[in-house]
Amino acid sequence: MDKIIPNRDEAYALLKKYNKNESLIRHALAVEATMLHFAELLKEDDKEKWGIVGLVHDLDYEQYPDQHCIKVREILLENNWPEDYIHAVESHGWGLCADIEPVERMEKVLYTIDELTGLITATALMRPSKSILDMEAKSVKKKWKDKGFAAGVNREVIEQGAKMLGMEIGMIIEEVIKGMRKVAEEIGLKGQL
Ligand SMILES: [Fe+2]
Repeated sequence: MDKIIPNRDEAYALLKKYNKNESLIRHALAVEATMLHFAELLKEDDKEKWGIVGLVHDLDYEQYPDQHCIKVREILLENNWPEDYIHAVESHGWGLCADIEPVERMEKVLYTIDELTGLITATALMRPSKSILDMEAKSVKKKWKDKGFAAGVNREVIEQGAKMLGMEIGMIIEEVIKGMRKVAEEIGLKGQL
């Protein structure tokens, strides 16, 4: 079968097929929105591709947690997805669940922002408004230093990603918040606002 260029509807249908857990779907949507925001920020041409890779990056996690970042190749190949999309998804787990290094700028951004969306979500949910809409980067930076808070968020991965991108962490945090705000309602972070 010839490879397809997946569109957003196909990617979303695939996500829903493999993921039933609401918080995983929200995470996928948060990463998609952040990838779209960075594609815009960095003036990338293939914005849709950035979003799609973000949307499906954890596709295999719910059903194959022991083969996370591995099984996804088989699933995407069955669906005739092209190699560059597959490589991008695999490389987000570099050093964690895959030994495929992020090379493209899209891959480096995904690697950097994946864990960070988790820290930002946890920080927003701690706030009285439970909203990302009125949250500033400084709240997240404070929680960044508190290693006991959202301890599962691997700060070293984010630091390594920021180095790869040549971007300062504070700026990355600000931009991820902006990206996630665009889908605040869909990802459950509109809160009381
Ligand atoms: Fe993820």
